[in-house]
Amino acid sequence: MRCTVFGTGYLGTTHAICMAELGHHVLGVDTDPGKITKLSSGQLPFYEPDLEPLLRRNLAVGRLHFTTSYPDAAQFADLHILTVGTPSAADGHTADLTDLYAVANQLAALIERPAVILGKSTVPAGTAARLAAHLREQSPTCDFELAWNPEFLREGHALQDALRPDRIVLGVDMERTLGRSRAEQQARHLYADQLKAGVPLVVTNLETAELAKMAANAYLATKISFINAISDLCEGVGADVRALADILGHDPRIGRFGLDAGIGFGGGCLPKDLRALAKQAGELGAVDAAMLLREVEQINLHRRVRVVDLARQACGGSLRAAHVAVLGAAFKAESDDVRDSPALHVSAAIQQHGAFVTVYDPKALDNARQSYPTLTFATTITHACENADVVLVLTEWEQFAALNPDELTRLVRNRSIIDGRSSLDSTRWREAGWAYRAPGIPKTCDQLSP
Ligand code: UDX
Repeated sequence: MRCTVFGTGYLGTTHAICMAELGHHVLGVDTDPGKITKLSSGQLPFYEPDLEPLLRRNLAVGRLHFTTSYPDAAQFADLHILTVGTPSAADGHTADLTDLYAVANQLAALIERPAVILGKSTVPAGTAARLAAHLREQSPTCDFELAWNPEFLREGHALQDALRPDRIVLGVDMERTLGRSRAEQQARHLYADQLKAGVPLVVTNLETAELAKMAANAYLATKISFINAISDLCEGVGADVRALADILGHDPRIGRFGLDAGIGFGGGCLPKDLRALAKQAGELGAVDAAMLLREVEQINLHRRVRVVDLARQACGGSLRAAHVAVLGAAFKAESDDVRDSPALHVSAAIQQHGAFVTVYDPKALDNARQSYPTLTFATTITHACENADVVLVLTEWEQFAALNPDELTRLVRNRSIIDGRSSLDSTRWREAGWAYRAPGIPKTCDQLSP
């Protein structure tokens, strides 16, 4: 089938490529001509493992195209997917729906045949119903059904998550469609392969679909803050948070994901969606939800302070004029995304305490330089670590876990390492004579480690 994808950010680009990979004819649309030129020539505007070959393959076979032309897009298909960004507004809490409304308005004004508009962007519950009412008023002759189909994909695993998701969620306007939703029919065609492969489809009302995405992200954030809060207890009693996480994670009712303690969560989704949900909960008078979600955020921010404290202790009580090597800038491994990156937030805080901070990351240096121009960046681990008083590992890249402590010993001034991601082998570092510190891992408990 044919579909358009409006907004070629991370979500839209991934989705456009994956829908083409499933055999559909896809037109990606964006107002940024630079992005469209890049994508049309087979280059991804961001790093995501294994995605670029799929982009090239689908361009080559003619199933995937990109354009800046809204009229062409409105003509191209009768299924239009909206994947525009919904960043935090200037208040830092509310979701900014400006782009979503702008795209939907322009599209609705151009639609000439009955069409389905499928929203994928993460939005506060109630957005779809309000947007549909707004479009009906603005473009009264436009025959459309608006449905919501949130996306749960993770950066670094986008391909797998988009091609074989855990579930497909579709929110439809139950009252208007009365069991005969065009959007549901179209979605069943679009995702036919996945449904055939057994991926569950949950069809529900618009609000449930919208809230489900926010709630899923808030739940994952809660889980991460939970283990981080427990990690303080671990240090207090002499327990090891890594073994504890494995023990909890073996319980299928709990599951292992989200139990890696350390510097906390960041990125373009979890923090912003958590804040937006807390804000909405407050507005609705859902006081318990608002309180819980705000606490989850506070715990997360406190993790960053905790790692700065560990660095200060490692430098003998003051960071002034200390040389600090930071390994990692991306908000997580296998990504070049630095939005709300705990690694860069901590680096900047340490710099503010008077330290000389040098940051290395295998993929995110360009983005990091743009966001934090006052930090110093190194293009190799060696350069970052030269004469360091302390080395901080703040993104869980595999190449950091594979580092040889003896090789690093020759470079640094002090053998002191802080593992902000619990991703190194503490025994190996300690045996090589390094002072190894990590949240939730007591100074002397290597024998407890898994
Ligand atoms: C998240 C959701 O997982 C995904 O379903 C949604 O569609 C978008 O938001 P993503 O932001 O790509 O995906 O990353 P995720 O893997 O969830 O990690 C988020 C943050 O939490 C990262 O900073 C990561 O390093 C951190 N994290 C994750 C932990 O601190 N501990 C963990 O155990 C897991």
